[in-house]
Amino acid sequence: MSDDEQRPICDDHVIMGKRLSKRLRTQVKEEVGKLVAKYGIAPKLVTVIVGKDEGSQMYVRMKRKASSDAGILSDHYDLPETTTQDELLKLIDSLNKDKTVHGILVQLPLPSHIDEKTIIGAMAPLKDVDGFSPANIYNLFYGGEELSSATPHGIVTMLDYIGMKDLSGKHVVVINRSTIVGKPLIFLLLNRNATVTVCHSRTADLTSFTKQADVLITAIGRRKSKEDPFFITVDMIKDDAVVIDVATPYGDVDFENVKKKAMCVTPVPGGVGPMTITLLLQNVLDAYVAQVTK
Ligand code: GUN
Repeated sequence: MSDDEQRPICDDHVIMGKRLSKRLRTQVKEEVGKLVAKYGIAPKLVTVIVGKDEGSQMYVRMKRKASSDAGILSDHYDLPETTTQDELLKLIDSLNKDKTVHGILVQLPLPSHIDEKTIIGAMAPLKDVDGFSPANIYNLFYGGEELSSATPHGIVTMLDYIGMKDLSGKHVVVINRSTIVGKPLIFLLLNRNATVTVCHSRTADLTSFTKQADVLITAIGRRKSKEDPFFITVDMIKDDAVVIDVATPYGDVDFENVKKKAMCVTPVPGGVGPMTITLLLQNVLDAYVAQVTK
């Protein structure tokens, strides 16, 4: 075992998302290797971007690179902004039918003339490696976690690895209500027996909630102001809280000061970001297993 493999995930009050990701990605890669040797078919992810959003281009590049490192093949469709909803639906239909494709990921956001809900609803649930489709949300609603949304699943996996697998008696405050992060996260936290409060942009007196949090998960994702950039400052958290910063590319949390008071806090970058990609790889592996070995 290398030195790094023995080092803790919460190290000097910092949750080492990158370190945990590295370990979990090694496990995914080993599993992929075994299954490819047994079944003679490599897992394949197809990514789709519509338009020229720079963030989307960067995230998809990172997802494809991580896939390749784990032995997962990937194809990519870079579609113009003018792509119609029907054209995108036709592509999804052909990918649904293509037996060499095990995972489909349509990067969000989509241009405003395309209805996100229609596109997500058209994806074969077994290939929906984002966990956004109705069948996968339904599974999550009933306590299942197979093919669940990668960012929230990455967050609870981090909690699992810092000794917070069971959140009985813990108050978890989430600042986000999006379909990608906040909403699926509620179910994953309830599965772990947490008491969950969800705050968002219309919440009054945010600090009265954050101060109660044993675990604070924040995904605001913008600067408060130029002079005062952090929404989450040290005076807003409880002693020994666990603080998870989902915001990107800049964190919501005043990391350097919060670190002195928190039990542990995630850095940005190197915290939640790598875990999101890791859980995506796990989803591709699970989707492949479900389609190839069963
Ligand atoms: N845009 C921002 N996060 C995500 C994600 O997790 N999946 C997809 N498909 N698009 C995103």
